[in-house]
Amino acid sequence: MFPAARTRRLRSSPGLRSMVRETSLRAEDLMLPLFVDERCDAVRPIGCLTGVEAYPLDHLPRLSDELESEGVRTVMVFGVPRRKDAEGSGAWSEDGVAQSAVRALKSAGGLNVIADVCLCEYSDHGHCGVVRDGRVDNDSTLPLLGRTAASLADEGADIVAPSGMMDGSVAAIRQALDAGGHRMTPIMSYAVKYDSALYGPFREAACSAPAFGDRSGYQMDVGNRREALREASLDIGEGADIVMVKPALTSLDVISDCRRALDVPIAAYQVSGEYAMIMAAASMGAIDEERSMLETLTAIKRSGAGVIASYYTRRIVAELEVTQ
Ligand code: PBG
Ligand code: ZN
Repeated sequence: MFPAARTRRLRSSPGLRSMVRETSLRAEDLMLPLFVDERCDAVRPIGCLTGVEAYPLDHLPRLSDELESEGVRTVMVFGVPRRKDAEGSGAWSEDGVAQSAVRALKSAGGLNVIADVCLCEYSDHGHCGVVRDGRVDNDSTLPLLGRTAASLADEGADIVAPSGMMDGSVAAIRQALDAGGHRMTPIMSYAVKYDSALYGPFREAACSAPAFGDRSGYQMDVGNRREALREASLDIGEGADIVMVKPALTSLDVISDCRRALDVPIAAYQVSGEYAMIMAAASMGAIDEERSMLETLTAIKRSGAGVIASYYTRRIVAELEVTQ
């Protein structure tokens, strides 16, 4: 007996395969993380993120033109400040590196600029909140996050993105934005952020590794799936407009859950360690880099992420331009 249904019929040519493909990447789906380093005066490669660079402020107008002409739509700004202090006051300073970067990018052109809101890059201890008696104190962090978000919106940030996993941060930021005249500035909350080993290269790039302890007191335990919906629902209740899940490839079940249960856009972050794993395996000749990048990003989108942050954004967008 031969099978009547033949799934292979629709796989017999590139034309048919692309006709029935359920999930495709679009340039609009992708967000490029951007490290802006106040300490350097030339573009600097980031050691363990092959192909990713950190930029000095004065390079941003040119970069903005390049990215726009390549087809990149959205960047996520992470600032690396010259000075750090116990509070992380560089995070909300009017002439802070992120504020200056947002200002430069918004006056240079039409990229969507998403500003990260966290203290870890700005504090000398590297934690995402205020440290009191050796612990990260949730509630005294909230006003500082509100201030940071409002200061970035003042410079024209299109979206602010709290990434520190403090309880109540979305509500505090919403309140500060509204009070600062930014009622229409959306919040993309890193609602579901696992305590992951895959953030290593980012911390090196942003010099934001915690000086003591780890982030397990505020980031989620990787064993928890149901808790992700609780986190995301709480943030939506506080006013989050988009919720983010990260890392991406280790959270496809969670992305899928969020997509089904929630009615806001779902974002996912293919984090630095995910990128580094692919790059390392490809450089050993173990896997094909191009195909692996497309496969992982397509799988992340297939699981339910409408928007994806990825260090591959520039390359994918270039590729899409060629194939369309
Ligand atoms: C923390 C933050 C992290 C990343 C971005 N912002 C994680 C962390 O240091 O715990 C990681 C992104 C990446 O690895 O690409 N606010
Ligand atoms: Zn942080």
